[in-house]
Amino acid sequence: MIVNFINKKVLPNFKIFFINKDKKNLKYHSISSNLEIKKNILNSLAKRNFNGKLGQICHVEIIDNKDTQNAFFIGIGDESKIQSFNFQYFGGLLFPYLENLQFEKISLDIESVKKVKLSHENLILHFASGIYLKSYSFKKYKKKKESDDNKVLKSINFFVPNPNKFKKLFLNHEAVSEGVFFARDLLHEPPNVLNPITLASRAKELSKLGLKINILDEKRMKSHGMGALLGVGMGSANPSRLITLEWNGNPSSKSPPLGLVGKGVTFDTGGYSLKPSQGMEEMKMDMGGSALVLGVMKSIALRKSKSNVVGVIGSVENMVSSNAQRPSDIVKSMSGQTIEVLNTDAEGRLVLADALWYCQEKYNVKKMINFATLTGAIIVALGNFYAGLFSNSDKLSDDLIKSGRKTDEKIWRFPLGKEYDELLNCDIADMKNITGTGGAGSITAAQFLQRFVKKDVEWAHLDIAGVTWLDKEQPLSKKGGTAFGVRLIDNYIYNNYEK
Ligand code: BES
Ligand code: ZN
Ligand code: ZN
Repeated sequence: MIVNFINKKVLPNFKIFFINKDKKNLKYHSISSNLEIKKNILNSLAKRNFNGKLGQICHVEIIDNKDTQNAFFIGIGDESKIQSFNFQYFGGLLFPYLENLQFEKISLDIESVKKVKLSHENLILHFASGIYLKSYSFKKYKKKKESDDNKVLKSINFFVPNPNKFKKLFLNHEAVSEGVFFARDLLHEPPNVLNPITLASRAKELSKLGLKINILDEKRMKSHGMGALLGVGMGSANPSRLITLEWNGNPSSKSPPLGLVGKGVTFDTGGYSLKPSQGMEEMKMDMGGSALVLGVMKSIALRKSKSNVVGVIGSVENMVSSNAQRPSDIVKSMSGQTIEVLNTDAEGRLVLADALWYCQEKYNVKKMINFATLTGAIIVALGNFYAGLFSNSDKLSDDLIKSGRKTDEKIWRFPLGKEYDELLNCDIADMKNITGTGGAGSITAAQFLQRFVKKDVEWAHLDIAGVTWLDKEQPLSKKGGTAFGVRLIDNYIYNNYEK
């Protein structure tokens, strides 16, 4: 589906009115000068219990002198509290209504609202990007096309006085959405299609946007001593890969690039510490961290961001076979530290150990953020509403939380500390990959990662296990892959590397 800006109304046209909780600010006065008609509108809103509460939507047909006007009323609650992402949500919430109307083409005419902190222009842009984000669905493997039975909405046109200006301004929103869609595509791919090799070729396709992509095969990884990552992939017929992506949007800068590191486990059976079969199918999304990195890299390349960013993805398939890693195996990581693998299902940290180390060695980064569907424990702590944030830097944490507030991709910081770290000490190797006791599973996992972060590197880890794949529709996504974090990190890069 495409979003476009035009200065002629395509029929059918829908007026969009925003109403606050006191039903004031009712710009729908402009709809008709006829008092009777205004009364009818109020009646029909009241009949459907529409009271302007945040996110309420009501469709009204207005007949005025035999002329029919279609309108949607959207509740905005308390307009002094409203932020830009709310207007994105309104677009996302409205989209299913529009999709159901059985038109191929429609136009929207958006009324301005008083007392919101956003310009009318920005309001429309956010609304449009919300509609666009929500329009995503993954239908690649459905042979029967929806268009066989239904009219499919192909374009939504925003009625604006100066379309060219809007088209230009929308490019940045579109770039971020394309990054989100790329990440969602990868999340939805089944694991018999998406494995480390095909993930690497999907990454390689980004080189046409000016990104430099490099792929390390198992032989090259072995030469770097990446025994922790390679150990996880050993049981799979699909060989492991390390993928690097470089965006050099600020060539004159002398500072090291920002490092983004992603967990790319294309399927996590748990290995010999086998997961129960119920729910195992969800583990195709265990490459969510890598999807996030790829989505952000695509977004910053599309919008030609003036930043220098590198992405490093460790990709493996965690399987069971006669070659697979055994519980109690000892592996040696690229950093030189040895690890006793007591649980083969705690594999994400093993993959990240080498990916993090490679990122620091190869690119000399001083700031590094990693993303991983790392622990079930983070879902126990935060449910599906927040991602967990772990960091050795207050500044980096605050900046990420700020971007999370701006995009409404919420993150919550957890503590780190010596007492948690010590739980990983091991009698016969430098560390073990699970503590076995002591609770705090998400913190000790982060503590494990921190053992692979150099002292002078500002680092943050986002545990996105609870927010990457949802069984329920969200304001900006249908059920399934959300691509949580792409918008947050894009905003973080914009704020910290481009201003
Ligand atoms: N990929 C899982 C974590 C996960 C769980 C992601 C649920 C998404 C939804 C990870 O590799 C894992 O299995 N972690 C174990 C760690 C444990 C063995 C210490 C877990 O959380 O149970
Ligand atoms: Zn696992
Ligand atoms: Zn995993």
